[in-house]
Amino acid sequence: MEFYNREKELRDLLNMINQDPNLITFIYGPINSGKTVLMYHLVNEILPKQEEKYATFYINLRGYSITKQEEFLKVLFEVCDEDSFKKKFDGILKGLEKYHKAIPVIRRIWREFFYGEKSFDAFKHVEDFLQELNDKGLKPIIIFDELQVIKDIKINELLIYRVFNLFIRLTKELKLCHVFAITSDSTFIEKIYNEAMLQDRAKYYLVDDFDREIVENLLRDKGFSDEEINLVWNYFGGKPIYLVEAIQSKNMGKNIKEEVERMLKLREVQIRDRIEVLKFVEKHVRIEGKEIVVDRNRLLNLLSRFKHEEIIPYEGISPELLYLIENNILFLDPVNNIVKPQSKLNLLAIRNLLKEFNV
Ligand SMILES: Nc1ncnc2c1ncn2[C@@H]1O[C@H](COP(=O)(O)OP(=O)(O)OP(=O)(O)O)[C@@H](O)[C@H]1O
Ligand SMILES: [Mg+2]
Repeated sequence: MEFYNREKELRDLLNMINQDPNLITFIYGPINSGKTVLMYHLVNEILPKQEEKYATFYINLRGYSITKQEEFLKVLFEVCDEDSFKKKFDGILKGLEKYHKAIPVIRRIWREFFYGEKSFDAFKHVEDFLQELNDKGLKPIIIFDELQVIKDIKINELLIYRVFNLFIRLTKELKLCHVFAITSDSTFIEKIYNEAMLQDRAKYYLVDDFDREIVENLLRDKGFSDEEINLVWNYFGGKPIYLVEAIQSKNMGKNIKEEVERMLKLREVQIRDRIEVLKFVEKHVRIEGKEIVVDRNRLLNLLSRFKHEEIIPYEGISPELLYLIENNILFLDPVNNIVKPQSKLNLLAIRNLLKEFNV
């Protein structure tokens, strides 16, 4: 499916970019709500059409298993010899590519980090490099996707703190570039939101599933009947990835009612498994450095609050809430202080399972 809508989000993001960098922007939301696709669309389609010249660095940590600072730096930087660095820099100035996957660094300087006598301060290099781009009249933007990948890496202190320090320097202090950090990990967002170091230095932008009106327009365009639109909305809500599935099913001539029910059954099986495993295996979650056991009864009790509600207030973390978040069943929005199922399908599956368990 081609990129759809997100007019409001694109307008908001563009407004942020058109102001001087000041705060770090954390983009968060339920899984598969379309955060990554939105940011790529902004970078590939919207920014190149603006009058201003941007240099965008989209650093996607998805798929990397990073356990050491060196591994993070290998993703952050692209090592070039002097000639290719010059070419690269020229290319950035001319806007030859819509975005870059890493920040270029000359091999000689880079080697100093790993083998050298002289020390190479990687973060200072980022600062100097962005300063040069600013001097040439470009507006740099750095986007980190899946930033939570580095949340547990310790050097002396946690690496993430050094990265936050860099972000604060680049935005609030030096006003060198805009920084966006994307994550679906709601426990990570919760930590960040309560992090003293980031108080008044960060803002939070929610990219949620589509609302009813957008879903209706999209599906009507794709030839869905009113009855089919209602079915899709009632089962899938506005989760883009499921809408893509529904449209594909429709194109293949499948029966929409059967499809939505099949998806619901599948989700029920998965969630039932996460609940029933607790009968046989002691599952732990980590809170404040301690391993705490997840209790099946307390978990069902928590889920039972969704019998008649779609959203409940967030009243602090519990092992059961954390377990459900880590298993992508519930989504925690610490900014709006609420907890809700990751999707409509999850809500329906939870309700059916509560009936099955007589809760
Ligand atoms: N605006 C959109 N138009 C069309 N399809 C979309 C849109 N947003 C999301 N999708 C579909 O939903 C899928 C998931 O989107 P995306 O990967 O951007 O979600 P995400 O929020 O980044 O997910 P994650 O939580 O895993 O990081 C996409 O591959 C695409 O098929
Ligand atoms: Mg993503």
